[in-house]
Amino acid sequence: MKRILLTAMALGLTLAAFAQPQLTKDNIDEVLKAMTLEEKATLLVGGARAAIVNGVTSGIAAEVPGAAGNTRPIERLGIPGTVLADGPAGLRINPTRQGDSRTYYCTGFPVGTLLASSWDLDMVEEMTRAMGNEVLEYGVDVLLAPGMNIHRNPLCGRNFEYFSEDPLLSGKMAAAYVRGIQSNGVGTSIKHYMANNQETNRNENDARISQRALREIYLKNFEIAVKESDPWTVMSSYNQMNGEYTQQKFDLLTTVLRDEWGFRGIVMTDWGNKAGTVKSAKAGNDLMEPGNQNEIDRIIAGVKDGTISQEELDRNVRNMLHYIVRTPHFRGYAYGNAPDLKAHAAVARKAAAESIVLLRNEKETLPLKGDEKVALYGVSSVDFVAGGTGSGNVNKAYVVNMEEAMEAAGFTLDKALKNFYREHKAYNLATRELTAGNGWSTWGGTKLAETPIPAAAIQAEAKANDVAVVVLGRNAGEGADRHQMNDFELTNTERELLQNVSTSFRAQGKRVVVILNIGGVIETASWKGLADAIVLPWSPGQEGANAVADVLTGKVNPSGKLPMTFPVNFMDHLSSANFPYDYNGQQGGFGWGRRAPRKDVDYTDYAEGIWVGYRHFQTHGVEVSYPFGYGLTYSYFVYSDPKVKATADGFEASVTVTNQGRVAGKEVVQVYVHAPEGGLEKPDQELKAFAKTRLLAPGESQTLTFKVDAYSLASFNEAASAWETAAGVYTVNFGSHIQDLRRSASFKLKAPKSWPVHNVLAPVTE
Ligand code: BGC
Repeated sequence: MKRILLTAMALGLTLAAFAQPQLTKDNIDEVLKAMTLEEKATLLVGGARAAIVNGVTSGIAAEVPGAAGNTRPIERLGIPGTVLADGPAGLRINPTRQGDSRTYYCTGFPVGTLLASSWDLDMVEEMTRAMGNEVLEYGVDVLLAPGMNIHRNPLCGRNFEYFSEDPLLSGKMAAAYVRGIQSNGVGTSIKHYMANNQETNRNENDARISQRALREIYLKNFEIAVKESDPWTVMSSYNQMNGEYTQQKFDLLTTVLRDEWGFRGIVMTDWGNKAGTVKSAKAGNDLMEPGNQNEIDRIIAGVKDGTISQEELDRNVRNMLHYIVRTPHFRGYAYGNAPDLKAHAAVARKAAAESIVLLRNEKETLPLKGDEKVALYGVSSVDFVAGGTGSGNVNKAYVVNMEEAMEAAGFTLDKALKNFYREHKAYNLATRELTAGNGWSTWGGTKLAETPIPAAAIQAEAKANDVAVVVLGRNAGEGADRHQMNDFELTNTERELLQNVSTSFRAQGKRVVVILNIGGVIETASWKGLADAIVLPWSPGQEGANAVADVLTGKVNPSGKLPMTFPVNFMDHLSSANFPYDYNGQQGGFGWGRRAPRKDVDYTDYAEGIWVGYRHFQTHGVEVSYPFGYGLTYSYFVYSDPKVKATADGFEASVTVTNQGRVAGKEVVQVYVHAPEGGLEKPDQELKAFAKTRLLAPGESQTLTFKVDAYSLASFNEAASAWETAAGVYTVNFGSHIQDLRRSASFKLKAPKSWPVHNVLAPVTE
């Protein structure tokens, strides 16, 4: 009996020695303790390749084909692998799979710039709730989105993915986006943190930025998003900032992001495999993506030789485990690969409709009656751009183009023109003589260049039709910035087309409507007079053309407003003096490796400081083509006298908006604050709050309320390394856009306030 007992005890002890803790939400420290150094390093590095056993590809990296990356499982401890996929205009995975007859299409939603044009946080959150459902149902744990770099310059090739030139609008949009996606129990990755404001040499470019511009412009939007939405992950960018790779900057990833803002998730690198893995890990970059064995080896070696301490390693591993227990893979979610794409297409259409900006509408050209005979011009009417190229592309089942949308809305299209564009597209597709759009054309398809139409033909079409609609298109994307000529500015063919259409149709007393199917800002000042109406849907997703048609017919009353300025000239942006806009063919590309420093390529001086977008144009009285916040509607809104009162911590305000138009509509009210003298030099006006009304029937009113705290009014004082709000009288302006401040009131801040922060991120002085 005694012997049996002893044997049993010995067996128990041996089993205990081999018992592996299995990861739960509550035993993270225990699992961490049980991990070997190799396992820890493995968890910090993504696994790019799938296992191929007997010719069959399997494992986490193969689970969702087309996903950008994954984290590696450690089965022994019950740590599942997780799946990461792009972002941001929908989920990017492969639409078809080998040996599988099912399809895996995702919805192509409006791009970030169009979402920001809605100025409607509730709508964005509702839309991304639908987008996040596709993330969950296709077996993905984290959507690598939203992209939220500031529109520093109109030519950044990825601006379409990003929201705005203003950090408040950008940050609020990102927060709403994150909340919507994460309501599904999946994660987001706000990107690219930070100063990834150009694609040219994006892997190496050193963005040289003052502490003030960093704090107020380039970090502010990330700060708002982190504080207001708790994103699961942050993606550090490829580039350098003030002399160091962002992914290796401790002050950026730990001091500011975690210690000052309270970020609780993981930081992952953008998809790069940079050499300084250990430095990245030490800085607080928890996950290397897409990951390779070298990086694992470097981390192991770093721990062994003491370059990275056990505590630093464990901190990152703990972050990873906290991330993993939040994921659907950890929960064992049984995804069905069958999201409701039909319902989501309707959501995408609604989001586009709520966001389209009406830039011009002379003599009430729009809305049209809906049954007109239309001469539809422009290759983009058949080659419509739903989204950009590169990682921001979405593999959608279809894209409705303008030709289809116009017909579906009831218009009769000029047959000969329609056939001409159809054949032109078919010919080019067949012969592959397509003009590549900027960016990775192979990722997102290509873009047809505009093609000439003889003037005589246009004259005949002007007689035979009621109205001309001209669609101008642009495509851009990851890996290259746009150009000033033939991109920011119209091509000669486009100009000629517009000129001839305008002359011929106006000669017949008929109108010209221009639709701007673009990803970034273009020049409009020189040609807008040729158009009677201009509609700006940006790149509105797979259903966006239908939304444009709804605006043309008046089924939808446009209520979008510009999230950036349309300048008269490219050089009017101060940043244009330090942006790689014409680098003689050297522009673009990834720029792996180091070379002799070249201005705007190897380094970029953000010499304009805080004078980005309207902060510059409005303060310095520079004429613009369309100001920040601008957008027309088919209604007319009147603002009541506002109420503004100081609170213990800032101010509260309200204003009543009445629809005095003849049709129902929505108005975006923008609150701009002018600060008192005596503090730091500031922009004349800064956006501090905004709100959109519900759909107001003619005669109906709604009171909008705003609450702004003193911290949000502060500017950054580099000398004191503190945010500061001056005492004195603040003017609060209620505007329909930055140049149309309808009402104002003021409040007094009795005492100055100051919020000291760490003195970090300073530029390197020679
Ligand atoms: C892009 C990221 C993207 C990642 C994964 C990178 O090249 O910069 O935005 O999430 O690839 O596809």
